Amino acid sequence: MKTISVYGVNKNSGNTTIAVELALISQKKGLKTLLVDLDIHTGNVTKRLKLNRHPNISDWCEDIYLACKETSIINIKYTQDQWLQFLQRHSSGLDVLTSSSNKKLPGYGNIYYEIKIIYNSLIDSDYDVIVFDMSNIPTSFSYMVLEDVDLPILVVDTFRYNLKLLKHFIWDLEDVHFPVNKLKLLFNREASPVEDLPETVAQDFKLPVLGVLPEVQPEREFCDADEFNKRLSELFDKFMGLPS
Ligand SMILES: Nc1ncnc2c1ncn2[C@@H]1O[C@H](COP(=O)(O)OP(=O)(O)O)[C@@H](O)[C@H]1O
Ligand SMILES: [Mg+2]
Repeated sequence: MKTISVYGVNKNSGNTTIAVELALISQKKGLKTLLVDLDIHTGNVTKRLKLNRHPNISDWCEDIYLACKETSIINIKYTQDQWLQFLQRHSSGLDVLTSSSNKKLPGYGNIYYEIKIIYNSLIDSDYDVIVFDMSNIPTSFSYMVLEDVDLPILVVDTFRYNLKLLKHFIWDLEDVHFPVNKLKLLFNREASPVEDLPETVAQDFKLPVLGVLPEVQPEREFCDADEFNKRLSELFDKFMGLPS
């Protein structure tokens, strides 16, 4: 199994677009793929892929909460058969664990154990590839996922304000001894002539550039055969060790 997480330091960085496209690319290649929306409170994968409101990750959290009445949270484990009920299947064949806007769901600070149980269950499964779409909020569980996955992608652009956010994000990670050098930068826009080049930004941050994606038309559909799809497919093949 290979795991990928897609994190954006600011909202609208394009991380959901990239996560969904990557998951669909993987599924199209015949790999058994799961997309997980870990933007728990404000995720929009459900809407983007025209899925149903239920089941979703908060149904799973609720199940954990109920199980806690019987045993301590530390003992709770799920087999794949037990958590399949929380997934939805997209028309492409892609399996998705969606998020929800359930008001009953506790805030980010109080959901770490639930997400840890869910994450451990997911990675102990027969999927070939799992893609995690993350929120733009640094939380304990996003640090945990970023640290554990095989490919932690950081979506950035070269706008000044974005780079400032990136700097603060990395400082915060260093403060908690996060292995920052694991992160790979993916630029979701080509630099304009007045902006720093991706390579310059990467050098400043001492992080490798995974790639640079082109700007796309607003009416673009997922997996349209365009340059955006082509470059992401190439990145995916390289990461998976597939022939291009
Ligand atoms: N490469 C791109 N070119 C043009 N627009 C993009 C690109 N990537 C994302 N977008 C658009 O930017 C908006 C935010 O993207 P989204 O993936 O939802 O960001 P995030 O998940 O980081 O908040 C969407 O309207 C999306 O269509
Ligand atoms: Mg998003």
